[in-house]
Amino acid sequence: MVDAVHTYDFWSKEARANPQPIYARIRQEDPVHRTTGPHTGNPTWILTRYEDCVSFLKDARFGKEFHKNLPKEVAARWWPEPSPDDPWAIINRHLLEIDPPDHTRLRALVHKAFTPRMVESLRPRIHAIADTLLDEMGDHGEADLISAFAFPLPITVIAEMLGIPPADREQFRRWTKVLLFSPDGDENRAALMEFGMYMNQMIDERQANPQEDIISALAHAEEDGDTLNRMELLSMLFLLLVAGHETTVNLIGNGTLALLQHPDQLQKLRSDPALIKPAVEEMLRYNGPVDITTNRWAFEDVEIGGKVIGQGDMVYASLLAANRDPEQFPDPDRFDITRDPNRHIAFGNGIHYCVGAPLARMEGAIALNALVQRLPQLELAVPAESLEWTTNMMIIHGMNAMPVRY
Ligand code: HEM
Repeated sequence: MVDAVHTYDFWSKEARANPQPIYARIRQEDPVHRTTGPHTGNPTWILTRYEDCVSFLKDARFGKEFHKNLPKEVAARWWPEPSPDDPWAIINRHLLEIDPPDHTRLRALVHKAFTPRMVESLRPRIHAIADTLLDEMGDHGEADLISAFAFPLPITVIAEMLGIPPADREQFRRWTKVLLFSPDGDENRAALMEFGMYMNQMIDERQANPQEDIISALAHAEEDGDTLNRMELLSMLFLLLVAGHETTVNLIGNGTLALLQHPDQLQKLRSDPALIKPAVEEMLRYNGPVDITTNRWAFEDVEIGGKVIGQGDMVYASLLAANRDPEQFPDPDRFDITRDPNRHIAFGNGIHYCVGAPLARMEGAIALNALVQRLPQLELAVPAESLEWTTNMMIIHGMNAMPVRY
C-alpha cells in the first residue's frame, strides 16, 4: 500500500496547471489515497475513481456537520465550533456546510427561487451580454480572454439575477476576492462585516418592496414559512455569489483552451453550432472548472475500495480524476465534442449536486458559440505551457489569464 505522507505533490505549480498526470498515477497506484491535511496533519483522503466518487457523494455516512455527528474527542482533532458571534458564522450556514434535514429544507427554498423558468428567462440577456463584451473586444486584436470575456459574463449574470445594482458590483468583486483568497484575518473580517451590512440592508429593502430577483424570492420565502432565517439567507446569497463568480468563468476559459488545442473539434463546432450542447458537456468532462469537491467527514468507519476510511477522517472526491477514469470513459484523454454517452460529474453528485448547473450550461453554450462564431481567427497569444493557473484553492481549476489573438 502506498501510504507515505504527500506521496503525490498536488500543490506544485505543474500539478495545478495540469493535474491529470498525477491523477492518472494515483488512480492506478492508489485510487483511494490517504494523505494528510495541510494545516491539521489529520488523515485526509482523495478519491480518484469514478465509481468511488459517485458512491461517496451519495453516501449519508459522509457529511458536513462534524461537530454534530462525531464524538467530541474525534471532532476536536479538527477545529472548534465557531461561536455565534464569530463573523464567519454570518455566511457559514449555507448548502455546502450543512447536512439534512437543514440541507433539504434550504435546498427546497433555493429551488423555489431558482426555477427553470427563471433561468430560461435569462437567455436573451445572456446573449446580449456576450455580444456586448465581444463588441468591446472588436473584430481583431489581442486581449486577455478571462478579464475581457470569461469573467465579466457570469458576474454580470449573477449580479443581475440577485438584483445588485451595477454601481455596487465592483465592490462585490472585491469582497468575494478577499473572502475567498486573502490570508489577512483583519481584511477578511472587515470585508465580511461590510458584505453582511450591505446584504442586510438589501434584504430589508426587498422585504418592503419585492422585485423580480432572487433576493426578493428568498427573502419572501423567509417571511412565508419562517423557515429561512437571516443567517441562512445571508449565507445562501454569499454562496450563490461565490459560485457565480468562480466557476462558469473557468468553463468558458478551460473550454476555449480545449477547443484551441483541438482545431479539428473547433472546426466541427464552427461548422455546426448545434453541437454546442454535447461540446459543453465534453468541456466540463475533459477539463472542468472544479478540481476536487468541497470536503466531507466520515461519520463512522467506511470501507471504500478495500481501504477503511476512519471515523472523523476528511474526504474529497477529485472530479477531474473521475472524469478521466478509463473504466467509465473510453479513451478518456481524447477531447471529442460528440462524445455520447458522457455521464461526467463536473457538477458533483448526490444531495449537493450543483444548483446552478442549468444556468452554467446555458451561459457556457451561449458564450462559447458566440466566441467561436464571431472570432474566426482566435488563437493563443502565448505558448500553452506558459499559461498561469490558479494555485490558491485546489477546488477551483482555471487560468489567471488567457492571452489571445484574433
Ligand atoms: C460551470 C460552472 C459550475 C460548476 C462546474 C459547478 C460545480 C459545482 C459542484 C462540483 C458542486 C458540488 C460541490 C460538492 O459536492 O462539494 C456545486 C454546488 C453548488 N453550486 Fe455549482 N458549479 C457551477 C456553477 C454554479 C452557478 C453559476 C451557481 C449559482 C448561481 C452554482 C451554485 C451552486 C450551489 C448553490 C451549490 C451547492 C449545492 C448544495 O450544496 O446543495 N454553481 N457546484
